[in-house]
Amino acid sequence: MGALDGRVAIITGAGRGLGREHALLFAREGAAVVVNDLGGAADGSGSDATPAQQVVEEITAAGGRAVANADDVTDAVGARRLVEQAIAEFGALHVLVNNAGILRDRTIINMTDAEWDDVIKVHLRGHFMPLRAAAGYWRQQHKNGVDLKPAVINTTSTSGLYNNPGQSNYGSAKAGIATLTIIAQQELARYGVRANAIAPAARTRLTEGSPGTSSMMEPSGDAFDAMDPANVAPFVAYLATEDCPIKGRVFFVAGGGVHLFQPFAIVDAISKDGRWTVEELAKEAARFADVPFHLGNPF
Ligand SMILES: NC(=O)c1ccc[n+]([C@@H]2O[C@H](COP(=O)([O-])OP(=O)(O)OC[C@H]3O[C@@H](n4cnc5c(N)ncnc54)[C@H](O)[C@@H]3O)[C@@H](O)[C@H]2O)c1
Repeated sequence: MGALDGRVAIITGAGRGLGREHALLFAREGAAVVVNDLGGAADGSGSDATPAQQVVEEITAAGGRAVANADDVTDAVGARRLVEQAIAEFGALHVLVNNAGILRDRTIINMTDAEWDDVIKVHLRGHFMPLRAAAGYWRQQHKNGVDLKPAVINTTSTSGLYNNPGQSNYGSAKAGIATLTIIAQQELARYGVRANAIAPAARTRLTEGSPGTSSMMEPSGDAFDAMDPANVAPFVAYLATEDCPIKGRVFFVAGGGVHLFQPFAIVDAISKDGRWTVEELAKEAARFADVPFHLGNPF
């Protein structure tokens, strides 16, 4: 018995890195998987159907069920086709894992229009388009009295939740994805949908070569490889299970750790019975500059 027996899942960006590991584990746990990947370079340029196809071959060779999809997740028509393919091939859709992503790091001053737009587009629009397509299908199924126990797992990043200089495009998109997840939970709960997000950390082509990631190196000998991307997949699979009770949450997942975030929280306040003047605020509000934040940054 697999934890995902009978579930049909779409995993975007599953030709490589984290998405590939999610796809392999989902299939081992009994899910039928639509392996989506546009197959471009790490900066989003180009396309190649081979990575998604290879993952499908790996899954089917091991006795699992999978089909490849090479659609661009930012494309509304492509996202609809992706959902339709899951239903046509496997009869239903239960799980959407939004994972596809690219990087184009640059400081704000030097960032080009395209570097900003493309990263925001692939992450934020690339999450929204498959989500909207899947949600429309789930609403219809719910109206028809079919309880699919749908699950969405989005992919945010500590670059968005803790911020990372040089990644204003990526961090802004990833912070948006965390908020999109919570709003999706609020809007779609009435159709039985659960939406959660993970901020992973793992050694993939997106992190290899990035500055400050030497701690991601493979350990020597038999030591636990905490940065193996396969470490993240079990929690994603758990979130995808039919009876998982977790909804509307954001987690940091890396190595053997699963950390629950709280959303933006008020930590201090001033107030008066009426409108402040700028002069009064200059006296009363300046102390906000000294309020310490307990970020709990795991890095
Ligand atoms: N690796 C980490 O430590 C880390 C940390 C935080 C967040 N993430 C996030 O995890 C996700 C997976 O990243 P990864 O590290 O495995 O990188 P990766 O480059 O190995 O995998 C990303 C995949 O997404 C695909 N993709 C890109 N644009 C696409 C599009 N428009 N349509 C369909 N597929 C597309 C790429 O072809 C690639 O195979 C990303 O959203 C990334 O931002 C990764």
